Amino acid sequence: MSKRFYITTAIDYVNGQPHLGHAYEKIITDVIARAHRALGEEVFFLTGLDEHGQKVQQAAAAMGKEPQAYCDELAEDWRRFVDKLGLSNDEFIRTTQPRHKQWVQTVLNRLHAQGDFYLKEYRGFYSVKEETFLTEKDRRPDGSFDPAWGDVIELTEQNYYFRLGRHQPWLIDHIEANPDFIAPDYRRNEVLGFLKNNVLEDLCITRPVSRLNWGIPLPFDPNYVTYVWFDALSNYASLPGALGDPLVVQTLGLPHPPTGPELWPADIHVIGKDIIKFHAVYWPIMLKAMGLPLPKQVLVHGWWQKDGAKLSKSTGNIVDPVAVIDEWGLDAFRYYLVRELAIGPDGNWTDAGFSSRYHAELANGLGNLLNRTLNMVKRYRQGAVPQPHAELAPEANAVLDKLTTLLRHNELQEGLITIWSLVNRANQYIDQTAPFKLAKDPAQSTRLDQVLYNLLECCRVLAVLLSPYLPTTASRIFAQLNLGPVPHLLTEARWGKLPPGHKVGEPTPLFPRKDQPSK
Ligand code: ME8
Ligand code: MG
Repeated sequence: MSKRFYITTAIDYVNGQPHLGHAYEKIITDVIARAHRALGEEVFFLTGLDEHGQKVQQAAAAMGKEPQAYCDELAEDWRRFVDKLGLSNDEFIRTTQPRHKQWVQTVLNRLHAQGDFYLKEYRGFYSVKEETFLTEKDRRPDGSFDPAWGDVIELTEQNYYFRLGRHQPWLIDHIEANPDFIAPDYRRNEVLGFLKNNVLEDLCITRPVSRLNWGIPLPFDPNYVTYVWFDALSNYASLPGALGDPLVVQTLGLPHPPTGPELWPADIHVIGKDIIKFHAVYWPIMLKAMGLPLPKQVLVHGWWQKDGAKLSKSTGNIVDPVAVIDEWGLDAFRYYLVRELAIGPDGNWTDAGFSSRYHAELANGLGNLLNRTLNMVKRYRQGAVPQPHAELAPEANAVLDKLTTLLRHNELQEGLITIWSLVNRANQYIDQTAPFKLAKDPAQSTRLDQVLYNLLECCRVLAVLLSPYLPTTASRIFAQLNLGPVPHLLTEARWGKLPPGHKVGEPTPLFPRKDQPSK
């Protein structure tokens, strides 16, 4: 066995509602996972839920429920959400699972034995909402705290702290020596700027049971539970450990047989811009202290707004991913999110923009190409594929090569643009060659065969190229071509694999128009 390509999403707070931002992160991660499978790699894709902490404890109490029962109910909604998005994840981790809790306790014991922690009394400000201690530096010029922190309380308490000081120099060196460690570039510069201009404060890794008991008990002091972020970040390595990843098992001396898939180190952690410090500063330091290698990349995406304003349940400015999928179809949703926004900058959802891309690019572009092609082959050739011809082969093969490179670099949006250059070329080819005219002239029969082969093969190629992005659509194109399952490898998109004489299937619209009365 060999090391798999291991990719993760952030684990979502179980007490929140699945929203557009969660859907986006999961879908881009799914596209990357599927792309690497299509590039011939063995892939492991992990997503899951963050279930401990004060917010969950309070929300459960407000509903008169035990926190575990409350989490179990919500976890079902989240699993349904994962299905709804068509994710190809290999595992789903919940931080309340014993396999995760045991791992966190093993790590805590180890770091404690190494002398990485110490007890200290803290007196000051605390944001309950973000479960974070605040300092004088967090005050605004008028002395108040940003409302984003929610209620800020003053407290005095003893906690365990993780010594970070000795880690700062090597982390800076690591980020400088590994330009791909944090992507995109401007996020990397942000983290470097922060690390070079600030002395890292030690990280508080506990909460007193008297104030918060919904957490993983500290194995060496019953008066404390583990800070939710220490717990949550650990999921990325606890799951490989629980499955028996030899490196993780041996490094931490776990009791499991070291016969599981080789996952660690993660190849990509996909996260949003608000949680960079946790992933690019605290998590690498935690790993270094445990003796595990660092992830290869933290890939940071931007945040979605709707109509130029923040997504917010209270103001009603939301996009309900499930409602959009029910109305427009899963692949239309996946298409819009990946096509509209590159991984990095912030995005803006508009219903008009969604409808416009749906009609112009999916219905008129891809859908029409397949529909016109199949109808002509049925009408002019009784549904049989003509002799192979390679007029569009150079362009189609160039698109395959370019897409392959783009997918290796997580350039998902550019990849779709590249695929659509072939959609547009094929539609233009119909206009230029005018097969409906050729069909009227028996002397043009060979030319008509050539045109139809080029169009059919373009449809086949496009389905293979699209499969990481729009797996359902790829299958539907294959079904209409009467070709069986979509091949796993992107190299199958190489020109000329459609056999002559093969009978195509029945055309049905891939993306029915919704802007005119149906006929
Ligand atoms: O932060 N647009 O969970 P979470 C795009 N449990 N992405 C968004 C977004 C938006 N409007 N809003 C949120 C947590 N996200 C922790 C993570 S990981 C060890 C623990 C993204 O449910 C956000 O940036 O608040 C994050 O990556 C993910 O959704 C989960 O957010
Ligand atoms: Mg959040």
